[in-house]
Amino acid sequence: MTQDELKDAVAAAAIDEIRPLLGRDVVIGVGTGSTANRFIDQLAALSGDFRGAVASSEASAERLRGHGIDVFELNEVGTVPVYVDGADEVNAHLQMIKGGGAALTREKIVAACAQRFVCIADGSKKVKCLGDFPLPVEVIPMARSYVARELVKLGADPVYREGVVTDNGNQILDCYEFMIDDPVAMEAQLNAIVGVVTNGLFAARGADVLLLGTDQGVERLTS
Ligand code: A5P
Repeated sequence: MTQDELKDAVAAAAIDEIRPLLGRDVVIGVGTGSTANRFIDQLAALSGDFRGAVASSEASAERLRGHGIDVFELNEVGTVPVYVDGADEVNAHLQMIKGGGAALTREKIVAACAQRFVCIADGSKKVKCLGDFPLPVEVIPMARSYVARELVKLGADPVYREGVVTDNGNQILDCYEFMIDDPVAMEAQLNAIVGVVTNGLFAARGADVLLLGTDQGVERLTS
């Protein structure tokens, strides 16, 4: 199967996963990226079965609206029963690196407000140890150089993602060469650097369910 076919397969599995949670009053959380896009496209067929969605990016909000799905502000709905999103890397504990699409902050916020996080990914995203994918860190623009120096002290090789401005008006540093032995501790350590808005480790709050696309079918793993 191609990577695109695997993404379609996990998107379909996510539809089956969330279907029992839907209802006329239900607003679900929807993530960002090429896998989440496939989920959004398949969600369109169910648009009469739920109230709408909270999106983790302007791009996903636009795509949802394009399918006639109402998009709500998170503050209007408070919590969502389920959040479906992709990942750049995911380990056996369902901890992830996210933010390759620069949407990490809103993704982490919606995930925090979700009763269940369903991660959808093709098999190439599953890793033993997080960190081969450069870890994105969203920073307040005026703090970028300071944060980069602090990241170097922690052993990273941060690279400014030039030309990218997040939906929140901030910038991204991609951290190469990071040894991520303890994702929960590192997530907290990075959050403590002044000027950091969010880092792409989803470890303290990982996924509850991973739907992983493989040539043998979609594997369902739980944390
Ligand atoms: C967006 O910022 C990311 O966290 C995406 O969820 C992640 O990069 C996965 O994207 P793909 O599904 O495009 O691989």
